[in-house]
Amino acid sequence: MVERYVISIDQGTTSTRCILFDHQGRLVSVAQREHQAYFTQPGWVEHDATEIWDNLQRIVPRALDNAGIGPDQVAAIGIANQRETTVLWDRGTGVPIGNAITWQDTRTDALVDELRRTRGDDFFLDRCGLPPTTYFSAPRIRWLFDHVDGLHGRAERGEVLFGTVESWLIWNLTGGPNGGLHITDATNASRTMLMNIRTLAWDDELLSYFGVPRAMLPDIRPSAECYGVARALLPDVRICAAFGDQQAALFGQTCFATGEAKCTYGTGSFLLMNTGTNLVRSRHGLLTTVGYKIGDEPTVYALEGPIAVTGSLVQWFRDRLGLIHSAPEIETLARTVEDNGGCYIVPAFSGLFAPHWRSDARGVIVGLTSYITKGHLARAVLEATGWQTREVIDAMNADSPEPLKALKVDGGMTANNLLMQFVADVLDVPVVRPMVSETVSLGAAYAAGLTVGYWPDLEGLRHNWHRAGQWMPTMDPGRREAEYENWRRAVERSFGWIR
Ligand code: G3P
Repeated sequence: MVERYVISIDQGTTSTRCILFDHQGRLVSVAQREHQAYFTQPGWVEHDATEIWDNLQRIVPRALDNAGIGPDQVAAIGIANQRETTVLWDRGTGVPIGNAITWQDTRTDALVDELRRTRGDDFFLDRCGLPPTTYFSAPRIRWLFDHVDGLHGRAERGEVLFGTVESWLIWNLTGGPNGGLHITDATNASRTMLMNIRTLAWDDELLSYFGVPRAMLPDIRPSAECYGVARALLPDVRICAAFGDQQAALFGQTCFATGEAKCTYGTGSFLLMNTGTNLVRSRHGLLTTVGYKIGDEPTVYALEGPIAVTGSLVQWFRDRLGLIHSAPEIETLARTVEDNGGCYIVPAFSGLFAPHWRSDARGVIVGLTSYITKGHLARAVLEATGWQTREVIDAMNADSPEPLKALKVDGGMTANNLLMQFVADVLDVPVVRPMVSETVSLGAAYAAGLTVGYWPDLEGLRHNWHRAGQWMPTMDPGRREAEYENWRRAVERSFGWIR
């Protein structure tokens, strides 16, 4: 019998990746292409959606070639994507309306301040599970209406479509202007500020508040369901999953039980805890989000604490300060000293995300004395990731009925043993890393494979999860709490810097 595989596409903030997985959840072939980020004004971060679509068309055939596999051996396609990034395009021509405005872009700052002043956070939290911040899509759509002549009218007439990146890619894959499917999945829709978190439908009050016409919105579908065939690329292969990348990682880490949590450590870090079919309203600065929706099964929710700056602080230390030549060197440098020497770095480079949501915060380094060496700074850089994780976990424990028992981790920073030990120490729970670190891609593959019966059920997927690393807490509790108090005082000093 001919072996079959699942294609997973991970359209991320810096690159687009295509990975083929086999039945054991093993990675068989990878192809990847980076795309350009455009920093056109301070705080603006854009991508060219056409470049992303072009990249996808190149990497999928390459991943198949690398493995010597034909399209007839592909069981299904799953897609995961950077979330919140906003693409508008012309339905008739398929040409995007300017660049995509990414999740990192802060141009909607003034608009968001106005939302908070006029309506307050609760209006939004109750409907969509999210506080108004520059992070989400709806303020960007409104910003575009305010800045592009005639756009609102075209959107009302259905001539201009909105989507997050998976929506844009699926529309193109399934035919583009010639009958492409205009859909999104519930995890991505839950990041727009336009979807009602309870009903999983576009919310009339939110639409009218942001002035977003229904005619431009995609249909909201489950994360795992066969939507249609990838006519433009692999005409006989069905697209059977779409997932926001962090929810895909939750799925790829097989966090299927209530209380299971994962953190993906990349340029930013995203900690999600499965709360089951319970929609937990955060009262401590976390987001309520859709974890996954498999076909007709009940929606599984998650609490999320996004942290804006973690790995990108190491990049800053390397590229802007020049204190190391490569990211892994930070561990070597940090190991030249015993501790942080009393120094803390709060990387509020563009404000702070969860649990603070302070756009007025800016980065601070505190505790400097002439004793401090670059080794201490390197420790403080790594510890900033640990303490930010602790803040999010404290908020989760306060919001959810069950305290966290262990944290599954993935992403580039998990190669840093010193950091992972520190995370286990400050959380006071075991930290575990799986064999397959490509959990985003794996999650999208799993969802697509489940839909077509390539994998039988969730239990079968759990068997594919194998532990590659584990860190147990060893820090003295007194020291942990004293240092956490120092961190909290440092965070307070970062507030109110931008007036
Ligand atoms: O919410 C933003 C997140 O989805 C971005 O993830 O891995 O593409 O940077 P990543």
